[in-house]
Amino acid sequence: MTAPSPLRLGVLVSGTGSNLQAILDAIAAGTLNARVELVISNRPGVQALERARAAGVEALAISHKEFAQREAFDQALVSALREADVNWIVLAGFMRVLTPHFLAAYPGRIINIHPSLLPAFPGVDAVKQAFDYGVKLTGCTVHFVDQGVDSGRIIAQRAVSVEASDDLAALAARIHRAEHSVFVEVLRDIAAGRVVPFEG
Ligand code: GRF
Repeated sequence: MTAPSPLRLGVLVSGTGSNLQAILDAIAAGTLNARVELVISNRPGVQALERARAAGVEALAISHKEFAQREAFDQALVSALREADVNWIVLAGFMRVLTPHFLAAYPGRIINIHPSLLPAFPGVDAVKQAFDYGVKLTGCTVHFVDQGVDSGRIIAQRAVSVEASDDLAALAARIHRAEHSVFVEVLRDIAAGRVVPFEG
């Protein structure tokens, strides 16, 4: 049997890029059969772009503010990703909702990570929402992306306990560490064919 070919990832980011870093580190360590072909940020100057370039990965800023329509922004993303010939899309802290145009370009092949146990606490500030609610168990979720906000079919979750001594920052840091491992595990499963494209 021939070995599966590496995943060709396009990673969309908006900020710090610690999840991107976890993916790049796993690839560099030889524990994830993938290549990051292109990183795109909708915000110029973010740390995620620097992390990509430091790893020798092509990194582009395409600001959504330069496009009057969401569809036109998504078209610009899709043409850059097509040019890079990626076959899976990873949303790693990407703070824009994708249009049907983008979803149709990569059917069933877009995944996102979210810092709560979905379907609880979708949307922005999920860690704070959960903390303020007083939950004792939260975590993170990797899911397929559909037209909703954090609403696609769940692939994997990791639970994180809320300790009595936690403040918001301590809880957020623990969830972030859980994200880094579960995201890479899901990508390993995709690379090995244990998780396959899902179109809902
Ligand atoms: C993560 O908490 C992720 O779940 C959310 O945005 C954050 C991105 O963090 N969607 P980073 O940029 O990967 O450090």
